[in-house]
Amino acid sequence: MRSDANIAGPMTDPVPGPRTESVGDGVSRETPPPMDDTPIGRAAQLAVEALGRAGEGLPRPDRTRVIVVANQKGGVGKTTTTVNLAASLALHGARVLVVDLDPQGNASTALGIDHHSDVPSIYDVLVESRPLSEVVQPVPDVEGLFCAPATIDLAGAEIELVSLVARESRLQRAIQAYEQPLDYILIDCPPSLGLLTVNAMVAGAEVLIPIQCEYYALEGLGQLLRNVDLVRGHLNPDLHVSTILLTMYDGRTRLASQVAEEVRTHFGKEVLRTSIPRSVRISEAPSYGQTVLTYDPGSSGSLSYLEAAREIALRGVGVHYEAQHAHAIQNSQQNVSEGIQ
Ligand SMILES: Nc1ncnc2c1ncn2[C@@H]1O[C@H](COP(=O)(O)OP(=O)(O)OP(=O)(O)O)[C@@H](O)[C@H]1O
Ligand SMILES: [Mg+2]
Repeated sequence: MRSDANIAGPMTDPVPGPRTESVGDGVSRETPPPMDDTPIGRAAQLAVEALGRAGEGLPRPDRTRVIVVANQKGGVGKTTTTVNLAASLALHGARVLVVDLDPQGNASTALGIDHHSDVPSIYDVLVESRPLSEVVQPVPDVEGLFCAPATIDLAGAEIELVSLVARESRLQRAIQAYEQPLDYILIDCPPSLGLLTVNAMVAGAEVLIPIQCEYYALEGLGQLLRNVDLVRGHLNPDLHVSTILLTMYDGRTRLASQVAEEVRTHFGKEVLRTSIPRSVRISEAPSYGQTVLTYDPGSSGSLSYLEAAREIALRGVGVHYEAQHAHAIQNSQQNVSEGIQ
């Protein structure tokens, strides 16, 4: 793992797809034409600006940040958040590993990583003590992004781990022995609080909880927080909830803003100012084996994950996040969700 402080250098062309336009006379121009002063025009303008910033150097952490994406409630956006944040951080210039710790293998699918049953996977690392380096694969299309895939074998690991020595710290050991330089490791947990999630919580210092802006959003959170306390007390003194991310936010419903308000009152500074809108593009991307960042770089979903990643990176080095931009993005998200999606 890396331990030197440095600043991410600018990447040359972080987002695949055309960044320049031909103007018909064989000349290509980098800057877009002026946008109409319409909601969609402004949203597009913001998209272009945000994409320009995707390759902007963000401060890198001085040591690898291991972030556990957990919530035992199913379908709240853990996997979507893991893969899209990871891709955003990589597009911002960081080196990022996604560890797929869910037997469903959704993160592996979304990153376009082969994970049929013969592929060396995180199961081999946890149960067979295989080095992490032997299972990590580069993610196609996103430079600096890697994935340790999950196969269906992992479904048996909860039980197989019980009888193994150091059953709670097998992932931690594997990560400590991994020598490739990394800025972030994001661990996608299954929707349970069993030994797989405990392994993630022992391996990482930070817990990121995605909360879906829906009915019963806070139900079960007490149990999750008690588990974090237990693991901190017995197995990993560094563990803490560092980040709460509101997902599937629909600005048109009163319910979403009520949930958001409740979460902000309850958690305060851990809640990212950027929230993730409900977006068709976000839900479509995995079926193409892509993150929304490559599937539709200018979409509201892509912009909000880029912004959330920026916020996380800045918080990690204690730099105040400029909220003004978050509001601009939020407004644009609302416009986009009402207008073109
Ligand atoms: N912002 C969003 N807008 C629209 N759909 C979304 C959004 N985020 C997630 N989804 C969709 O919601 C569903 C659940 O998301 P996801 O798989 O990320 O949740 P999860 O917490 O990982 O689920 P599980 O508990 O099963 O692992 C998926 O179909 C996903 O495409
Ligand atoms: Mg999932």
